[in-house]
Amino acid sequence: MRKNIVAGNWKMNTTLQEGVKLATEVNEALKSRTPNCDVIIGVPFTHLASVKAVIGDNLGLSAENCADHEKGAYTGEVSAAMVASTGAKYVILGHSERRQYYGETSEILKVKVEMAFANGLTPIFCIGEVLEERENGTYFDVVKSQIEDALFGFSAEDFGKIVLAYEPVWAIGTGKTATADQAEEIHAFIRNTIAEKYGKEVAENTSILYGGSCKPSNAKELFAKPNVDGGLIGGAALDAESFMGIVDAF
Ligand code: 13P
Repeated sequence: MRKNIVAGNWKMNTTLQEGVKLATEVNEALKSRTPNCDVIIGVPFTHLASVKAVIGDNLGLSAENCADHEKGAYTGEVSAAMVASTGAKYVILGHSERRQYYGETSEILKVKVEMAFANGLTPIFCIGEVLEERENGTYFDVVKSQIEDALFGFSAEDFGKIVLAYEPVWAIGTGKTATADQAEEIHAFIRNTIAEKYGKEVAENTSILYGGSCKPSNAKELFAKPNVDGGLIGGAALDAESFMGIVDAF
């Protein structure tokens, strides 16, 4: 069966010291709980090793990106092997901010997913439409293409290792959440798209997270939907209490 997951994406926030403090707080808060979901924090590259040293095994650790090359003369890049060597087990790939500001295409993302697999990392792969595509009704096609172009070249076995995160760009950091019904509609469509390619079993076992202004006050309603298997949390993950409020929604 697929897992319920609440994952934080800290983005470009917190200094190393602030990040270690926040991770320590999340770790402490988890100790007094038995969450009904896996809990992961996605942190900047600079924080990975230090954060790993202060968290327990019940808190997963993720990078927010990795390079599309194995190693070599790529100044400033961080490889999947480097990420894995910190003890991180996950890597967020294809976030809309990476697509929008750093020109990440499906072609590039496909290679990044390969790099993640080659280094034993679980990709948390982000998809989602912009406002115009939501409003003109092309969002189904957009999301389908994002999945097809980057991920449908993988075997069913490999695809089964991917966590998907549907994040409508218009809901990210805007305070404007997709309604639970809007999320359910597209999540069901995504699962169906996977089923058409890889069969029902793979589709049923794929965790599909929702991201975009998810917070303690709306998480319960979103997570109650049958095809919403958790959340990828930005702003609300920067405070241990609000992040835990979302974890507790399960
Ligand atoms: P917010 O929760 O801040 O809207 O960000 C969502 C997101 O982009 C997580 O990856």
